[in-house]
Amino acid sequence: MIIPSNWTLFNTVFYILFGLFAIFLGFLDYFELLPMRYSKFGTKKGVPARLGMVILYFFPVLVVTILALPYLPTGTTIQWIVYGAVMLHFCKRTLEVLFLHKYSGNIQPLTFGIIVFSYALMGGMISWLNNETIAAMDALFYLGIGLLLVGEFGNFYHHKLLANLRKKESGYHIPKGGWFEYATCPHYFFELLVWLGLFLLSRHLFTLLVFIAMLGYLTARSIKTRQWYRTRFPDYPEQRKYMIPYIF
Ligand SMILES: NC(=O)c1ccc[n+]([C@@H]2O[C@H](COP(=O)([O-])OP(=O)(O)OC[C@H]3O[C@@H](n4cnc5c(N)ncnc54)[C@H](OP(=O)(O)O)[C@@H]3O)[C@@H](O)[C@H]2O)c1
Repeated sequence: MIIPSNWTLFNTVFYILFGLFAIFLGFLDYFELLPMRYSKFGTKKGVPARLGMVILYFFPVLVVTILALPYLPTGTTIQWIVYGAVMLHFCKRTLEVLFLHKYSGNIQPLTFGIIVFSYALMGGMISWLNNETIAAMDALFYLGIGLLLVGEFGNFYHHKLLANLRKKESGYHIPKGGWFEYATCPHYFFELLVWLGLFLLSRHLFTLLVFIAMLGYLTARSIKTRQWYRTRFPDYPEQRKYMIPYIF
């Protein structure tokens, strides 16, 4: 199911380090050992949110494309789909940052640096590893396409609901509509579907580790976010889960 890696010393050390990063990222954020300071948890001074987010989502678009140039001109359908899927994600996020989100804060410079580096590394490695693909499209590959599309749409839809909250007034409000009625961060759940879909398309160990990193980080972030709402809004609905309605 996973394309075998070429286990050189360099690869082994890299995968061990990235694996540790993937496993511990959520803990580092949740226990404030290396907190990601943006959005609700942002800083008074720092990189303006929209500018910072455009850079951190658009830079991977360039990296992904540059690393795909050697194989794309003679690329197979699978290679084009994997490349297109990664591009779809980062381009969609860039467009949302530019035209949909209504930001109110700043990104701490250290957080900004970490995210720029991580996204460029993740997108770039997936693109580079796409030199080698599965032999033929299988059921998991089609499932990956489905998860990716559902994830992107659900993620966008809930971002739109968040943006609607600031149509009349700035500041923070209790989100309404869609899966927000049942969970605090449904947009994170849909983002996870995207990364699971990307793994099923790419089928490399690295992409699985990226999914694990996102799973840990967004889980921690959703727990912190629910705690934040409950502290700030005494009437925050008790039954709302963290990410997945009725389940978690
Ligand atoms: N793959 C990953 O590990 C990862 C990690 C983080 C994010 N992401 C992606 O980025 C997306 C956004 O993440 P995020 O953590 O920035 O989401 P977020 O904190 O929910 O913020 C999204 C947007 O909605 C606004 N907003 C949030 N809650 C609001 C409220 N209660 N009232 C009014 N406006 C509100 C935010 O404004 P402010 O900026 O003013 O708070 C921001 O513009 C995710 O859905 C996901 O697609 C991915």
